[in-house]
Amino acid sequence: MVKKFKLFMRNKSRLLIFVFISFMFMEVCQNKKSEFKIDLPLGLEANDMFIPADNPLTKEKIDLGRKLFFEDRLSIDATISCAFCHNPLLSFADGRYLEMGVWGQKGTRNSSTLLNRVFAREQFRDGRAKNIEEVILEHLQNSKEMNNSLDNVLKVLEADEYYRKAFKKVFKTKVTSESLSKAIASFVRTLVSGDSPYDRFMTGDKEALSEAARRGLILFQSERLNCKACHAGPNFTDENFNNNGAGQDLPEPDLGRYYITRRDQDKGKFKTPTLRDIARTSPYMHNGSLKSLLDVIEFYDRGGIHNANLSDKIKPLGLSFQEKEDLREFLRSLTGKNMLFMGNL
Ligand code: HEC
Ligand code: HEC
Repeated sequence: MVKKFKLFMRNKSRLLIFVFISFMFMEVCQNKKSEFKIDLPLGLEANDMFIPADNPLTKEKIDLGRKLFFEDRLSIDATISCAFCHNPLLSFADGRYLEMGVWGQKGTRNSSTLLNRVFAREQFRDGRAKNIEEVILEHLQNSKEMNNSLDNVLKVLEADEYYRKAFKKVFKTKVTSESLSKAIASFVRTLVSGDSPYDRFMTGDKEALSEAARRGLILFQSERLNCKACHAGPNFTDENFNNNGAGQDLPEPDLGRYYITRRDQDKGKFKTPTLRDIARTSPYMHNGSLKSLLDVIEFYDRGGIHNANLSDKIKPLGLSFQEKEDLREFLRSLTGKNMLFMGNL
């Protein structure tokens, strides 16, 4: 009897070890499976991506973030989701001059596109957030935007069975502000724009750009226009703060970067925005003051708007009618493959 029991125990411990090893194996496979690599379209550089070490991308997290991105209940009166101000059909801008938050409140800045945010560290037009997670926590609580409290938003989501289960599965916790912001930020990082006619042209498809757009590309890259001094690299931004004068002629101008650094030389500086999908994100500049691409081109042709800190890279250009048209054709060629057809949405 004793012998039999010993044998049983031995078998049982073997069984336990076997079960344990298979479990570990399954976990490893599971983790491998859930690791998510952004499938970057043509023209973007994988090495330029910035994904915080404490928030790696996984498929489940992105799926949860996508659902939250369209969730009206993130706002105090359940009317405004992220997509309300970052509309997927408008390349994640919203077409308004200035943002509109709950109860029709007008903000002071134009909603930015969310495309190619994975290539930037500092976020917001003045760089006040050090990552996308921070942006989200501010948006939720800003009284002119979603006007919610973290306590309330967590309570609302926790009370919803779908979210309760999803957070448990993805983060192994209740709904917390950290996991909430991490999930949405992960989704935002997957929103990329590339494989535009410009990218196809640059990689050898000479037919991808019209003759006008090709002339526009040469103008854009020329020393004379100097656009690429700020709109540089694959994402058409130096990720730096510059002053082109937009809005600086108003009685009470938005001083941009100055509010963060309090240095006089930063008055009127804003983050150089990406030009990807630019034809779809009007109106332009931090205050939505320019309606069309032609308005922007006329603006640079005049040498921006004069102010104490105007960048020395901005000068009157003396563009001809044809040159303006060509430059516009080039800017239009930066519209990437529509996200809606890329399977990320
Ligand atoms: C009421 C409109 C509104 C809502 C709602 C809103 N945003 Fe924004 N978002 C803006 C505006 C306006 C800016 C630019 C503000 C600035 O730079 O000061 C911005 C900027 C951002 C940026 C920084 C982009 C950059 O290039 O620096 C990110 C990322 C972002 N929003 C993501 C989100 C997410 C995710 C949500 C949902 C949690 C959200 N937004 C909800 C209006 C909104
Ligand atoms: C000194 C740096 C600098 C140079 C040179 C420059 N830009 Fe800009 N550009 C900026 C900044 C900064 C903004 C955003 C200003 C704001 O938010 O008010 C901007 C905004 C824009 C926008 C609007 C983007 C948006 O989403 O609102 C377009 C289009 C644009 N620039 C095209 C050009 C073209 C074309 C040229 C060359 C003729 C050029 N830029 C030269 C810095 C520069």
